[in-house]
Amino acid sequence: LASKAGRLRVRLTAAGGRVRLGDRDASALTFNGGIPGPTLRLKAGDRLSVRLRNELQDPTNLHVHGLHVSPEGSGDNPFVMVEPGDAFDYEYELPADHPPGVYWYHPHHHGTVADQVAGGLFGAIIVEDPEPIEAARERLLLISDVSLDGSGQIADVSPMARMLGREGDLVLVNGRLTPRLAARPGERERWRVVNACVSRYLRLRLDGARLQLIGIDSGRFSSPRDVDEVLLAPGNRADLLVTTTAGTASLRAAPYDRGDAGGMMGGGSPGTLSGAVLLATLAVEGEAVPALPEVSAQPAPRDLRSAPVTARRELTFAMGMGAGMGGGMMSFTINGREFDAGRVDTTAAEGSVEEWTLVNDSPMDHPVHLHVWPMQLIEVNGREVEAVPRQDVVNVPARSRVRVRIAFDRFTGRSVYHCHILDHEDNGMMGVIEVR
Ligand code: C2O
Ligand code: CU
Ligand code: CU
Repeated sequence: LASKAGRLRVRLTAAGGRVRLGDRDASALTFNGGIPGPTLRLKAGDRLSVRLRNELQDPTNLHVHGLHVSPEGSGDNPFVMVEPGDAFDYEYELPADHPPGVYWYHPHHHGTVADQVAGGLFGAIIVEDPEPIEAARERLLLISDVSLDGSGQIADVSPMARMLGREGDLVLVNGRLTPRLAARPGERERWRVVNACVSRYLRLRLDGARLQLIGIDSGRFSSPRDVDEVLLAPGNRADLLVTTTAGTASLRAAPYDRGDAGGMMGGGSPGTLSGAVLLATLAVEGEAVPALPEVSAQPAPRDLRSAPVTARRELTFAMGMGAGMGGGMMSFTINGREFDAGRVDTTAAEGSVEEWTLVNDSPMDHPVHLHVWPMQLIEVNGREVEAVPRQDVVNVPARSRVRVRIAFDRFTGRSVYHCHILDHEDNGMMGVIEVR
């Protein structure tokens, strides 16, 4: 669905339904009957109107992950609650200089986010490039994972899996199992990949083709970089160029160890290894096409490494034994507190640049996400890193300290930051920020 004359109006209906997932018939959750939901194509400066209808059994709402839009009122407001049977009209206005890239949408009603996203409620948003990058074709790959039981229902999730972050045993690309893609030798393709998994990390490798990274989330390098692999934490997106050579290339996720519960679960804690998976194959045959010229430099966004910092804060992400939960259940906190929608945890001044130190005081990685205002990764464990200038999910490895900078520009209002292992978010690892 693409905008016309600066405007896109869509109706999204969240409902249960029968769909084909991989090689199975499944009962899942869908936007407009499909998994993924419709792709929304916008341009900077556009206005997007979404009427969200809730035909689920539980409350829901909508979040436009990564878009730089107002968090207030009927904008990207995570505090809206749409009851079953109700509808809500969202209005999003993209600034005229909104960064191009791939974004996504999913529900954000605290307590049911992991179940609803794992159930199938997600879709992509593309903000087009002002100057198109030349490619033979563009592919959008939304990667999700789910476990189905014997009758094709979404499988129950154990309390242990909710603590560790669930990983489904079907890993799907646009709802399909290991799709086969076709191309001719020498073609350059544009791939936009979304990690829509609840907890699974994707260490993407493409063997048998040239892989170049244009950017992550809304951030871009000044020119595409040749890479061997790209790590996408849950919620991250990659903007890629793939140049084919004759033969078969395979898109795989290599294993990624995201830690464990460090004995907190009592007895030997199971680990959380995102295992190796074959995601898709690319069959390259036929007559070779002439090579396209290298992609020229992209306009560089503001680099916050040289910006004056007006405030510094430290946010500590921790897992511990929940006192009030009868023991045995883990608590997920930021600076010692679980999420409370009625409390403001952090206030920032509009127009300021802040530096946040994200401390992971636990034996498991936490991918930290901030709505509305992107982060620039500066340093990991005291070592400076060179990263894309704008990311909305930054991984904070187990027992690590990560420094980011954030420009709180353009918008005021309340929003949230949280761990994008959605089970952790639903268990309380989320805070409220107010920008004034
Ligand atoms: Cu993709 Cu607050 O989430
Ligand atoms: Cu988000
Ligand atoms: Cu987490």
